[in-house]
Amino acid sequence: MKDIFGKALLDYHNGNYSEDIITSTSISGEDILPLPYLFRDFSEMPKLEQRALELCKGKVLDVGCGAGSHSLYLQKKGFEAKAIDISEGAIEVAKQRGVLRTEVLNILEETERFDTILLLMNGTGIFQELRQVSKYLKHLKSILNPNGQILIDSSDIKYMYDPDSYRDEDGGPDSYRDWIDANANYYGELDYFISYKGEKEIPLKWLYLDFQTLKLACETVSLQCELVLEGAHFDYLTQLSL
Ligand SMILES: C[S@@+](CC[C@H](N)C(=O)[O-])C[C@H]1O[C@@H](n2cnc3c(N)ncnc32)[C@H](O)[C@@H]1O
Repeated sequence: MKDIFGKALLDYHNGNYSEDIITSTSISGEDILPLPYLFRDFSEMPKLEQRALELCKGKVLDVGCGAGSHSLYLQKKGFEAKAIDISEGAIEVAKQRGVLRTEVLNILEETERFDTILLLMNGTGIFQELRQVSKYLKHLKSILNPNGQILIDSSDIKYMYDPDSYRDEDGGPDSYRDWIDANANYYGELDYFISYKGEKEIPLKWLYLDFQTLKLACETVSLQCELVLEGAHFDYLTQLSL
């Protein structure tokens, strides 16, 4: 990893903001990820994130914290929050912004236990591929205190494919779903490309999971999975517990 994401966060934090991050995926063209969005305060967060923060209890782990916006909010509310990220630049920024507990760490290496584990801004992305979901869920479960909760947001990105092009004579969502299943890996598995100031990151794998598939995966590792809130654009917040 070249840590392009971290470099962009550091630039923004140090007052060198001149460009945004450019993203694209295996199924979509170029898009802009505005750097200020990664420094959002509570009032600028989507409703799903606001609800997740309101549900927090006890000691919180902010997984893939980025610039640390969620941890900062929680700290101000009096919570003990630990922010982890694999990006050194992100952790440097979170630290400089005032997050008290930070660590450059892959979630799979975390060994402390928590009452709330937060994975926000398409939290399932970190799982990368459908076949890895149970490995991540089992690990998250192993670092959860008995009455703890895991709060994850994601989206059902079926809408990003064009169903009208693939309807058979019967039409309908089932035949469309069959088509997706027969012709590809899970439709939420994307290759994700980011570039910033002309530099390209090594392509990442990024997973969007629909709620039913996540619920099924949770059942296989004996986690309860409740739908907390749905957003306006096929996005949702879910709460997992033991
Ligand atoms: C979409 S960003 C979200 C940042 C932040 N949560 C927010 O909402 O602004 C995803 C973050 O997850 C981090 N990440 C990816 N895989 C990770 C892993 N296995 N363990 C910890 N962090 C990871 C990335 O470096 C990145 O900062």
